[in-house]
Amino acid sequence: MKSPWEDPQFVELSLKHLDAKFLPGTRQEVDFLETALGLTPPAKVLDLGCGAGRHAIELARRGYQVVGVDISPRLLEAARQRAAQAGVKITCLQGSVADLPSLLGDAAEAAFDAAISIGEAGLGALGGWQRDVAFLRAVRTALKPGRGLVLTTFNGLRRYRQWQPGDQRFDFLRGIQKWETPPTWQGTPLREAVRLYIPAEARMLFEMAGFENVRIYGCQPGQFEGQPLRIDDIEMMIIGNAPRGEV
Ligand SMILES: C[S@@+](CC[C@H](N)C(=O)[O-])C[C@H]1O[C@@H](n2cnc3c(N)ncnc32)[C@H](O)[C@@H]1O
Repeated sequence: MKSPWEDPQFVELSLKHLDAKFLPGTRQEVDFLETALGLTPPAKVLDLGCGAGRHAIELARRGYQVVGVDISPRLLEAARQRAAQAGVKITCLQGSVADLPSLLGDAAEAAFDAAISIGEAGLGALGGWQRDVAFLRAVRTALKPGRGLVLTTFNGLRRYRQWQPGDQRFDFLRGIQKWETPPTWQGTPLREAVRLYIPAEARMLFEMAGFENVRIYGCQPGQFEGQPLRIDDIEMMIIGNAPRGEV
């Protein structure tokens, strides 16, 4: 199944929506990320699912060296243009986070001081939990010892709570949400099956991938503050660190 993020029409509409909803909160989010990840420039940061470069560009403005990965060529083009307008340099790699080791090449091992994955940027949509673990393991491998990943994704608890008998769009035995473009959609219908994780499962995935000191918080755009997760929060934030020694 192709990702909707590979559909040009979907991406064009999403870009407008993302700009309107999320751009204004970017600085606050980056303030939080710097503190949570213990960053000081010119540390090297990996931005997974970087989109149009919201965080990548703000981090580069603050003196960080940023590598952004995204599946969408159109969003990376926007990221490059916006970086040029802001007078900063970011490295953009096009491809799926499922292929991280080959995308990063020489930088696949212990090259980064931090990694971020903000918004629903791959986890859960890679085709099964085994692939999600493989992705997280690749991120852990790309981090220097002791360094951290901040990832935000849907809070599965909310969806379980919303489920009503007859609701065919959420298979609660598998944790799989079936998403499709609404009937008003003009182009080819788009579908995606997304695995929604409850916090305990997300913690397990991180631990299976070799992360330590896993913490889970609530998360609202523009208000990242490590607040307790509530059952009805739309998204959750997961933070984990690569081990300080060998895994
Ligand atoms: C909701 S957007 C968030 C973008 C950005 N992180 C932000 O906060 O503005 C999700 C991003 O994840 C990217 N994405 C989705 N699946 C991906 C995958 N498998 N590999 C790489 N990028 C992916 C999309 O192209 C999109 O840019």
